[in-house]
Amino acid sequence: MRTLTYFTATSLDGFIADPKGGFGDFLFEGDHMTALYEEYPDTLPAQAREAMGIDAENKTFDTILMGRATYQVPGGLPSPYPHLRQYVVSTRLTTTPDDVEVIADPLPKVRDLKQEPGLGIWLCGGGRLAATLLPEIDELILKIHPIVLGKGIPLFAGDFPTTRFTKATTRTFDTGVIFTTYTKTDA
Ligand SMILES: NC(=O)c1ccc[n+]([C@@H]2O[C@H](COP(=O)([O-])OP(=O)(O)OC[C@H]3O[C@@H](n4cnc5c(N)ncnc54)[C@H](OP(=O)(O)O)[C@@H]3O)[C@@H](O)[C@H]2O)c1
Repeated sequence: MRTLTYFTATSLDGFIADPKGGFGDFLFEGDHMTALYEEYPDTLPAQAREAMGIDAENKTFDTILMGRATYQVPGGLPSPYPHLRQYVVSTRLTTTPDDVEVIADPLPKVRDLKQEPGLGIWLCGGGRLAATLLPEIDELILKIHPIVLGKGIPLFAGDFPTTRFTKATTRTFDTGVIFTTYTKTDA
């Protein structure tokens, strides 16, 4: 069975974006970016892959789930991750390109996707979708940036049960960014 991984950048105080949904305060240069390009090329949007000349095979993920607000982030493309199977969770969105499927009920869809063969399923965000999918999240990969934002879009937003995770790995970069992987603790 394949896994659902919430892979996201976060501030030290647990915000994945500023109050307007921007993430310009995060660091986009340095050794953590080199690791991202080399190890997680699947998580780069089409513009970044093109700009960096990256045409790598998917290594970790072959499927992405985005909340509507994440999909509609300003400057985003209509098909932002064409190298992945793309799903947008929305009850309102009506028009998307052929390679972006809209789903209204994410939990059963994720359970079905997990039964399929393939690479991992990437929960891209945002916080509202992550809160809904928390019962199905198997792994967190947090790119923790050395900044306190004070306010913004939370890592998880909404109602959700207390959920415990176990630290699997941690890597610290010269930039001060930390990649930490947590796996779901068995209940
Ligand atoms: N730091 C990072 O790496 C990172 C990654 C991803 C996103 N982000 C940031 O996160 C922000 C968006 O996060 P967000 O929490 O505000 O929104 P979100 O989770 O991306 O999207 C919320 C929308 O998704 C749909 N949705 C979510 N859960 C649903 C459910 N259970 N059933 C049906 N529809 C559901 C709804 O769309 P409808 O209203 O259409 O029904 C809802 O309004 C973006 O601005 C982006 O900047 C940051």
